[in-house]
Amino acid sequence: MPHVIYIHSNGERHEVEVPIGQNLMTAATSHDIEGIVGDCGGAMSCATCHVMVEEPFAALLPVPDDTENQMLDFTAAPREANSRLCCQIVMSDVLDGIAVRIADPQL
Ligand code: FES
Repeated sequence: MPHVIYIHSNGERHEVEVPIGQNLMTAATSHDIEGIVGDCGGAMSCATCHVMVEEPFAALLPVPDDTENQMLDFTAAPREANSRLCCQIVMSDVLDGIAVRIADPQL
């Protein structure tokens, strides 16, 4: 099964197996990964699933749609060039090993 690495602001890393088709917010909350809140359940209305995607994976993701793009302007932690809402990142074979830094704070 593919896996994702969540990186906390203190550098701590958590590696989690994620089924193909599951988004990285759901994977994080179901594994109690601290720092990913996911208040809206993936409806793109809370921006509490803000992560920064490490290369080379950031370049493999589709560009954010208009709604994600707007929500990324209202995140609690400043937006970075590689900022994404992880509820919109859906695990696939090519994303196996993706590493995301968890934005701090989320609220
Ligand atoms: S979970 Fe609310 S925007 Fe991602």
